[in-house]
Amino acid sequence: MNQPFNAIAKNYNLLNDFLSLGLHRVWKKTLVEAMSEELEKNDRVLDLATGTGDVAHLFLGKLSSSQVFAADPCEAMMEQGKRKYNGLTQWLRAEAEALPFPDGFFSLITCSFGVRNFRDRSIAFQEIARTLVPGGKFGILEIHPIPTGWKYLPLRLFWKFGVPLWGRGVRQLRAYEYLRDTAARFISPEDMVEELKPFFDVKRKESLIGGGLVTLIIAEKR
Ligand SMILES: C[S@@+](CC[C@H](N)C(=O)[O-])C[C@H]1O[C@@H](n2cnc3c(N)ncnc32)[C@H](O)[C@@H]1O
Repeated sequence: MNQPFNAIAKNYNLLNDFLSLGLHRVWKKTLVEAMSEELEKNDRVLDLATGTGDVAHLFLGKLSSSQVFAADPCEAMMEQGKRKYNGLTQWLRAEAEALPFPDGFFSLITCSFGVRNFRDRSIAFQEIARTLVPGGKFGILEIHPIPTGWKYLPLRLFWKFGVPLWGRGVRQLRAYEYLRDTAARFISPEDMVEELKPFFDVKRKESLIGGGLVTLIIAEKR
C-alpha cells in the first residue's frame, strides 16, 4: 500500500527522527556494519523498501555506486532520496514480491522498516532468497508490537498520542495512524524468525530497544 508513503514522503525523514529520537540513524548503521563483516570487493547489495535510501547510502563507503541498488515501489519516497544522496545512482521501482533481478545476483539484501508493508511476506522472502547467492545474507530492521507490562507504558503512550499529534501537525493524520497501526498489528520477532525458516537460517536476532520493539534480524540463505 503506497498511498500513505506518497502522502508522507516529504516529511518522512523528520518523522523518523521524531519517532525514534534520532535513534533510527544508529540502528541503520548497526544493520550495515553487521552486514558488512564479510563483504567482498565484487559483492552487490540491494536495499529493499529503501524509501529515501538511508541504508543504501551507508554502503557507499564500502562498495562503489555500481554495486549498490536501492529499490522501492514508491517513487515519491525515492525522489526525496535522490535529492539527499546524489552518490546513489541505481534507484529502481520494484516490490519485494517481484524483484527484477536474476537468480543469485546479490550477496546482501537489507530491508529496514519495510517488511511490515510487504503485500505477501512468504512470496517476498522467497524472491529475496532467489536473488541472493547461496550463503547470501538478508538483514532486517523492523518495528514490532510494543511488549505488554508497566515498563513499556511510557512507550505505549508516546506511540498512541505522540504519533497522531505529529500527524495532525503536518496535516497527514491518517497516514501516520496507518504507520502506527501497521506496527501495532505486526507479528512478533519470534514469528518473523519462523516465517524466514523455509528459506533462511537465522544467524542473529537482537532487540535494539523496548524489549523487541525494534529488532535486528540477520538471516543466511541456505
Ligand atoms: C517505513 S518506510 C522505510 C523506508 C526506509 N527503508 C527507512 O528505513 O527509512 C517503508 C517503505 O516500504 C515500501 N514498500 C511498501 N510496500 C512494499 C513492497 N511490497 N515491497 C517493497 N517495499 C514496499 C514503501 O514504499 C516505503 O518506502
